[in-house]
Amino acid sequence: MTLRYLGQSSFQAEFGGKHLVFDPMIKANELARDIDIDTIKADYVLLSHGHSDHVEDAEHIAKNNNATLISNFEIVSWYQDRGLKGHPMNLGGKFSFDFGTVKYVNAIHSSMLPDGSYGGASGGFVIWNNEKRFYFAGDTALTMDLKLIPMTCPKLDFAILPIGDNFTMGYDDAVLAAEFIQCDKIIACHFDTFGYIKIDHEAAKAAFKKEGKELIILSVGESIQL
Ligand code: NI
Ligand code: MN
Repeated sequence: MTLRYLGQSSFQAEFGGKHLVFDPMIKANELARDIDIDTIKADYVLLSHGHSDHVEDAEHIAKNNNATLISNFEIVSWYQDRGLKGHPMNLGGKFSFDFGTVKYVNAIHSSMLPDGSYGGASGGFVIWNNEKRFYFAGDTALTMDLKLIPMTCPKLDFAILPIGDNFTMGYDDAVLAAEFIQCDKIIACHFDTFGYIKIDHEAAKAAFKKEGKELIILSVGESIQL
């Protein structure tokens, strides 16, 4: 599969023959100024929670592509009222889509929609098909609930974890999170976009390497094959 980093926690994936977009916040991100959101293809837009640094461009991209939103019930309902298509889920539930299975799993974080509406609980997504299995954590603290993922989902090939600290776990806690989810290949998100979450890339990579794990820090706009 192909995964492209769009800055902050925004990713674009080609997976199971579909285009998936995660937590899009591109136009408002100075680090992502070279990305034209009108070129982004999406069959589905997955939103971990309602904070603006995760949903800012969701409506634009979904409308451009007639895409289906996947998120919690509160967020999907809010977007359905604005004319978008959506598939509501809630924590602990999984569903088989045409690209693979999605399980919406616990995050420890807050959530609120851009107009102040209640955003439900924050979550993350474990996604799998015959090709690959991965976890997109969204914003979360380190939590013991992460240990449920390897108990309830197929063995992960990689995971996308926040490492920027202050609003989410930092990279030191993310090393433990990788242990909890039994995954050695981690892709970084939620770092460097604003002052509170600027990190030392080399120190973050070294913290993972010390525990025999790999931290991949992509440049904004960079793609990798997984
Ligand atoms: Ni957040
Ligand atoms: Mn965030």
